[in-house]
Amino acid sequence: MNSRIPGFYTRDRSERLSTVADRRDLDADAVDALDADGEVGETVDGLSENVVGSITYPLSVATNFVVDGEDVLVPMAVEESSVVAAASKGALLARSTGGFTTDTDGPYMIGQVQVADVADPTAARLRVLERAEEIAAVANDQGVLVSHGGGCEDVTARVVDTPAGQTVVVHLLVDVRDAMGANAVNTMCEAIAPVVADATGGRVSLRVLSNLADCRLARARCRVDPDALVDSGDDSEEASGIDGETVRDRIVEAWAFAAGDPYRAATHNKGIMNAVDALAVATCNDWRALEAGAHAYAAREGYGPLTTYEVGDDGDLICSIELPVQVGTVGGATAVHSAGRAAMDVLGVEGADEFASVLAALGLAENLASLRALVDEGIQSGHMKLHAENVARQAGAPAGLVEEVAARMVAGEDIRESRARELVEELG
Ligand code: MEV
Repeated sequence: MNSRIPGFYTRDRSERLSTVADRRDLDADAVDALDADGEVGETVDGLSENVVGSITYPLSVATNFVVDGEDVLVPMAVEESSVVAAASKGALLARSTGGFTTDTDGPYMIGQVQVADVADPTAARLRVLERAEEIAAVANDQGVLVSHGGGCEDVTARVVDTPAGQTVVVHLLVDVRDAMGANAVNTMCEAIAPVVADATGGRVSLRVLSNLADCRLARARCRVDPDALVDSGDDSEEASGIDGETVRDRIVEAWAFAAGDPYRAATHNKGIMNAVDALAVATCNDWRALEAGAHAYAAREGYGPLTTYEVGDDGDLICSIELPVQVGTVGGATAVHSAGRAAMDVLGVEGADEFASVLAALGLAENLASLRALVDEGIQSGHMKLHAENVARQAGAPAGLVEEVAARMVAGEDIRESRARELVEELG
């Protein structure tokens, strides 16, 4: 098989798909599964390069959210079972005490212009600061941010020690309003390069935003009555019998574990990002930017958890989260993706700050529910129910039998396709 396909990008989508099908000997079912018809095909073709088709994710809606006093339905696109259930469960735990309250820093992104080969970096830095107003004015001549009330609000400069020697780094602090802001900030960084080169006498190299968006933080808080933390069991499982105060204290202990151990903190934060990314994917936002920002922020003083838990004076569990949130409600892929736009309609937020608030609340809800399950009955029972249903479907169980077959496999602790087939025969 030869991966060299000259002019691949110039072919139309169906030609590209048949070329790949030929090279990889795909059967008709595989080609059908990848193919994207009609509007979906046109949309995805315009979003990336070398597109051959599309891949479908489940679009779910997490329920029970109250954010700053408003009920919100949260669209989530994620392939992992239990993520949406956990988000809804976490939101329910917070709901009876008023839900989530949030605050945000505002939509400030950082742009970086790196200058190498500078003779005296410390003096060059000062010369940049002397010309800060001029640099901001050049930045603000770009695009439409200023007319929308945003724009470059500050120019700073740093001298950074790198393995290749000292480098001067100019930072633009840009109010990007309701955009995610990457394009606007990158354009500004490129535009100011000549002034920066002149001020520093060095060679301008990289001109691009930073995804460590630590001036665009969102915070959410909630409190939970310990009684609400008691596991009530479900159809397939008995309740664990652990009382609410114990569950509460163990959640605080689980948080402390993450605060003390980066191996645990990585998983703790992964769970938070399960939900945050799912909302970003559903609304066609850049989830990689959110990931990069969240983990870099978590590592600012040695890698740690993005949430905190403590016991309040009244015995409630006090939960909070703080993370950088770089998302937009205007522009980007959402503007051209009808399903992404429809997901934004489900969410119904007014602007980027409100969007950031929901993302923070969602991350906290997810983490709260994960920790509650982890310290009590464990997470596998919930996972296994959904996993068993998938196995039942794979085994050909008709829709009306899927739940029953799955429940019997879970109860018998035997979740295999062959067992599912036996049960389908027995029950069918
Ligand atoms: C699984 O995708 C996420 C969890 O592992 C998160 C956690 O351990 O906190 C359940």
